Amino acid sequence: TGLPASDFVVFGGTGDLALRKLLPALYHREREHQLPEGTRIIGGSRSELDDHGYRLVVREALQTHVAPGDLEAEAVGRLLDRIHHLTLDAETPDDWHLLHGLLKERPDPERVRVFYLAVSPALFGPICERLEQVGVVEPSSRVVMEKPIGTDLDSARRVNDAVGRVFDEAQIFRIDHYLGKESVQNLLVTRFANTFLEPLWSSHWVDHVQITVAETLGVGERGGYYDHAGALRDMVQNHLLQLLCLVAMEPPTYVGRETVRDEKLKVLQALKPMTAEDVDRDTVRGAYGQGVVDGAVVPSYAEDLGHAGSSTETFVALKAEVQNWRWAGVPFYLRTGKRMDRRVSEIVVVFKEPPHAMFPHASGPTTANRLHIQVQPEEGMRLHMTAKEPGPGGIRLRPVSLDLSYATAFSERSPDAYERLIMDTIRGNPTLFMRRDEVEAAWTWVEPILQRWAETPDRRPKTYPAGTSGPTAAAMLLERDGRTWQEHA
Ligand code: BG6
Repeated sequence: TGLPASDFVVFGGTGDLALRKLLPALYHREREHQLPEGTRIIGGSRSELDDHGYRLVVREALQTHVAPGDLEAEAVGRLLDRIHHLTLDAETPDDWHLLHGLLKERPDPERVRVFYLAVSPALFGPICERLEQVGVVEPSSRVVMEKPIGTDLDSARRVNDAVGRVFDEAQIFRIDHYLGKESVQNLLVTRFANTFLEPLWSSHWVDHVQITVAETLGVGERGGYYDHAGALRDMVQNHLLQLLCLVAMEPPTYVGRETVRDEKLKVLQALKPMTAEDVDRDTVRGAYGQGVVDGAVVPSYAEDLGHAGSSTETFVALKAEVQNWRWAGVPFYLRTGKRMDRRVSEIVVVFKEPPHAMFPHASGPTTANRLHIQVQPEEGMRLHMTAKEPGPGGIRLRPVSLDLSYATAFSERSPDAYERLIMDTIRGNPTLFMRRDEVEAAWTWVEPILQRWAETPDRRPKTYPAGTSGPTAAAMLLERDGRTWQEHA
């Protein structure tokens, strides 16, 4: 593979993220022979497991989370052979020397060490300190952090400082798994490897942009975390703002470690700061009530939590603006929610009407062009346009679409976001990871919204029935501007 062998250490090795995402992703890379010869995978957790015990846990996780057609006994065996486990507790120094011992068995200075923090953010700082104390942090070491990085600007800075005391910024890989999604990376290719879009991609021709990340799932077992976060912190601060950045950013000169991140940062810094009045007018909060999703009655958010009285939002819609030369005056409408009517992540770019009505006597509607980029579940792109309906009479206009389905156009399996991101941590390629300044710029923009919401507790999230497209106020947000959300675009 040309990559150096590595020790891939996963803290939280028996946790949900490790078992559901990281180990299946490593398995897929193993199956494709992408893991460098001699690579070891070391799970760290408080569980009293030896290597053998942990291998059984991993085997079971693969059986549950890898599609049966993709499971190959021989590849599973190869992966399991790489696996070790250490019982470690960030709260005590006991046994951390075992990690030192295990890593020192392979003293090659070229060998990459990846420390993946798949644990609660409260443990990021303490684990990094332990790593430093036992002397396993070397120049070729990297640390990977999962969100949430803080709950506001201040706490994000504290997390970043704590990790930054042990690792240099160049060694820190902050994951936003949306950036690892094939379709999200493809946004850059679509925009910048083609010529026909870019001349239209500005306030001259774009009326507005809609970004939707809708889920049908509720908060499930994650209520404890979620109730302190809410949709703005859980989804908008990271995933939706990252999508916005990729849609709005300027073309970098080339795709390099810092160039894409530099351009994204400029977009975040250009977001118009929201005043209290802006927040009151341009943000909508919702929380799901009971309803029907996929034919089954599902409980309300309060029931999922097990108590009433929460004022956390499970839905947010808002109107943002990028204040720069390209985008001034173009609204970016963002919305995300749990327990909605469908699972879809999509970006819709709505273009302006033609400058001159050429077919005044034509019957049928003229509709504005829309480019609909679907990120998931099925990846694809659709350009809505107006055509002439065949027929000898006068001109009749009819909406049609140009469709691109990735499943049809490509036969390759689309890898999970984590496969790409994990390999990038081993390669040492930070392009698809969030730099400290990006995370902090995103919090800087989000913070006045959080503050205003906290100041106005009487304006609680509006209840929307599960299985719908959110509170009616979200529709009003656009209707007020003479626009509508493009459902099933
Ligand atoms: C996570 C959020 O970051 O993203 C979850 O914490 C959310 O609440 C998830 O469900 C959505 O990711 P995906 O890849 O399923 O769209």
